[in-house]
Amino acid sequence: MTKSYDIFALHQRLDLIDGCAKLLNAEWKRSYDMRVSKLKRSNKDFPYHIALTETVDENEKLVGHLRLTKVLGEPDSLYMSSVIITECSRGMGLGRKLLNLTEELMNTRGFECFYLRTDSPEFYTKCGYDFCDPIQEVLSTAMENKMMLLQSAMRGDRSDSIDSDPADILNNSETKDLEVEPPLADKKLSAEECNNDKDCNPSEQPPIEIPIPPPPPPPPPCGACKPMICYTDPDSDNECDCNFWLRKHL
Ligand SMILES: CC(C)(COP(=O)(O)OP(=O)(O)OC[C@H]1O[C@@H](n2cnc3c(N)ncnc32)[C@H](O)[C@@H]1OP(=O)(O)O)[C@@H](O)C(=O)NCCC(=O)NCCS
Repeated sequence: MTKSYDIFALHQRLDLIDGCAKLLNAEWKRSYDMRVSKLKRSNKDFPYHIALTETVDENEKLVGHLRLTKVLGEPDSLYMSSVIITECSRGMGLGRKLLNLTEELMNTRGFECFYLRTDSPEFYTKCGYDFCDPIQEVLSTAMENKMMLLQSAMRGDRSDSIDSDPADILNNSETKDLEVEPPLADKKLSAEECNNDKDCNPSEQPPIEIPIPPPPPPPPPCGACKPMICYTDPDSDNECDCNFWLRKHL
């Protein structure tokens, strides 16, 4: 009997998407269609999904998955998430194999540092990861470039880019997913909020003075929110509480 393990970029093995969707959903329940559409976004410029397969006597089966995204301001770093080994194959060294093969592959592309977030760090510390400060994950290389540009524009740095106006950058489709709270004045009021708004129906509403909201709290000191605008990746499988940040430098 011959047994071998290989990793594949999911965008080069579309036949493994269905298995990855089921594997992920067995641990973190989501709609199957949503899973598949997210997995189909895998591409060489990130997000980059990796599938681990086991081949026994030419019979191949999927045994693991992980996802890689970029790290804002650290071009040599990647962020790992959705790390999973199929339940019946756990405890046999495959999780470590998946991480090691991924690190080696990405190292050939020039990446030297890998971050992740977890609430159970034991497996990762056994795989050579150390505790570290939080980083800011960004979905793709294109998104990373936009975020850097946006930060630079908001700091007022000189730039020749046509996108150097923060509004232009935000209006660009690549940054549409940024979670930015709109200014209070631009906010559309819900039906409930509208009850307090004199503009909704002036004839029925008494003239109420809307109090000026207090200033926002100062940013956290830990660096968890380094960029001026926080991006929350809607695709992330951080279903765990993820109290610990870990890093491995090759
Ligand atoms: C976490 C997971 C990927 C580990 O994969 P695995 O194939 O079982 O791990 P391995 O067999 O390669 O284990 C490598 C080492 O880590 C240890 N380890 C693995 N899981 C562990 C755990 N949950 N707690 C403590 N140690 C663990 C193993 O004992 C082994 O130690 P050793 O080198 O001293 O023998 C797998 O259990 C899994 O898919 N879990 C469900 C999904 C999940 O929780 N993902 C992480 C999200 S943050």
